Amino acid sequence: MDMQTIRTTQGRGRLFESILETVGDTPVIRINNLAPEGVELYVKAEFFNPAASVKDRLALNIIEAAERSGALKPGQTVVEATSGNTGIGLAMVCAQKGYPLVVTMADSFSVERRRLMRMFGAKVILTPRAQKGTGMYKKAVELAEKHGWFLARQFETSANADIHESTTAREIMGDFQGKRLDVVVTGYGTGGTVTGLSRVLRRERPETRIVLSEPANAALVSSGLAQSRGPDNGPTESHPAFEPHPIQGWTPDFIPYVLQEALDNHGYDDLIPVPGPEAVSWAKKLASAEGILTGISGGATFAVAMRLAQEAEAGSVILAMLPDTGERYLSTPLFQDIPEEMDADEMALSQSTPGFQMG
Ligand SMILES: Cc1ncc(COP(=O)(O)O)c(C=O)c1O
Repeated sequence: MDMQTIRTTQGRGRLFESILETVGDTPVIRINNLAPEGVELYVKAEFFNPAASVKDRLALNIIEAAERSGALKPGQTVVEATSGNTGIGLAMVCAQKGYPLVVTMADSFSVERRRLMRMFGAKVILTPRAQKGTGMYKKAVELAEKHGWFLARQFETSANADIHESTTAREIMGDFQGKRLDVVVTGYGTGGTVTGLSRVLRRERPETRIVLSEPANAALVSSGLAQSRGPDNGPTESHPAFEPHPIQGWTPDFIPYVLQEALDNHGYDDLIPVPGPEAVSWAKKLASAEGILTGISGGATFAVAMRLAQEAEAGSVILAMLPDTGERYLSTPLFQDIPEEMDADEMALSQSTPGFQMG
């Protein structure tokens, strides 16, 4: 870009009919300062979605698929178990379309998430963290059955991977058209992203390696142990390899049915576990060295992409998914050592001129 002239913009050349039309078409952005010499490293920044996460895509499609099939009636209440981003996405969609929303969520997820959902008008029912993801899931099922509500079923519904096949994957195909793409890195929460991406990439870019990641202390897929499922494909029990981990939005305490398709169909090439502290550390570096503010799962995906980049041959092109914004984590380990008050350097700067000092 020519630094001698001021930047200009033209607008998008269209008017948007509602917030829902702004879902998707997120930018792929080059990493300039952290990428090793000779490797092109990119991130797909899902925080450009209107409610700031990748889950806006699935939320919109769950509701619109149910409207098309007639499973969701006008004005019917929607209910879902969610670690937050799906709930926030659903709350945005339901606010626009006029459906009441009830979310069940373990009380271990960040308080920002609860307040955001309530801001969009949703009701948030907390469940005890000791009962983990399966607890909040079963609570949503109970509520749906008792009250005749529409259960969104993000972990089982085909509407999840379908929207990644028809949007996320198509965007990557379009943005890398005519360009090399060696590796795509993603984690899983429901598995919608990896399953949808692999359907398209396997067919249209078989040379691209798909790398799946999961928390090192909750390596459910790496364990090789199968998930027990009920007749509705939902989990009947917590997976034995699960332990609580700090990568919110990744790896619930069961292997989701949506992910199972990618596991069964060789939808990934490598599985690389990542420890929580490494995820936090890379999310911080992305913010301070690249100006890219993402959540802990974005840091985790990026940590894996950096490991691969460090070993990659010159000219390699690597893409990492960044699922959400870092602003959703102010009360979590991501911001734990980011102070509110001035530190010694800031105090010294304040005192370096005479005016406007704090008492
Ligand atoms: C913060 C965060 N990261 C990653 C993911 C994983 O995405 P997916 O559900 O498509 O596997 C999710 C959603 O579950 C999420 O909320």
